[in-house]
Amino acid sequence: MKEPFTVAIDGPAAAGKGTISRAIAAHFEFAHLDTGLLYRAVGSKFLTGADPIKAAHCLSPDTFDDKSLRGSEVTQAASKVATIPEVRAALLDFQRAFARRAGGAVLDGRDIATVVVPQSEVQLFITASPEVRARRRWSEMCERGDELPYDQVLKEVRLRDTRDTDRTTAPLKPGIQACIIDTTEMSVEDAVAIAISKVEAKR
Ligand code: CDP
Repeated sequence: MKEPFTVAIDGPAAAGKGTISRAIAAHFEFAHLDTGLLYRAVGSKFLTGADPIKAAHCLSPDTFDDKSLRGSEVTQAASKVATIPEVRAALLDFQRAFARRAGGAVLDGRDIATVVVPQSEVQLFITASPEVRARRRWSEMCERGDELPYDQVLKEVRLRDTRDTDRTTAPLKPGIQACIIDTTEMSVEDAVAIAISKVEAKR
């Protein structure tokens, strides 16, 4: 495929965006960008005392250590730095260039369909109840040996939902064309199958 073809996948924390994005990328052989990692990397630098705006201007996404960016402290820091308009602006060009590359791209985040690529050919908004999302995140953390009580994970998910939804710049919300997929009572396989069928329909 020579023309750009962007699949924008937005939604709240731990809704299943990552799993669905990776499955779409593998199925259609599209490139995949987890944009949350950009904010996590800035959050991680902020925790070591760096100026978040400067950090956002000199990220090297090729060097990200995925595992160290998934901890609870970095996660909260990511959602804090994500409220800073200059941080978001600094990350835009990279995301847009990635999205419009030849061969197709899937980007997951919070504002892909609303701000980064409003002309995305496919827009999906993946959601689920906070309790189900916290349960999924808690299981992932346990598998990594990162044992926080479920109640704390739920509290942190809710805190991030509020910060992501209430911020002034690029708040979390579905794009105008977005198809909303609520995975509260859905298996991963069913959610992936629906998402793939939505992409197929637009190709
Ligand atoms: O994986 P999870 O959904 O828990 O989070 P993430 O996608 O890695 O994003 C971490 C944080 O970065 C979010 O809570 C947002 O505050 C921020 N973020 C954002 O503001 N815009 C994006 N496009 C992606 C992430």
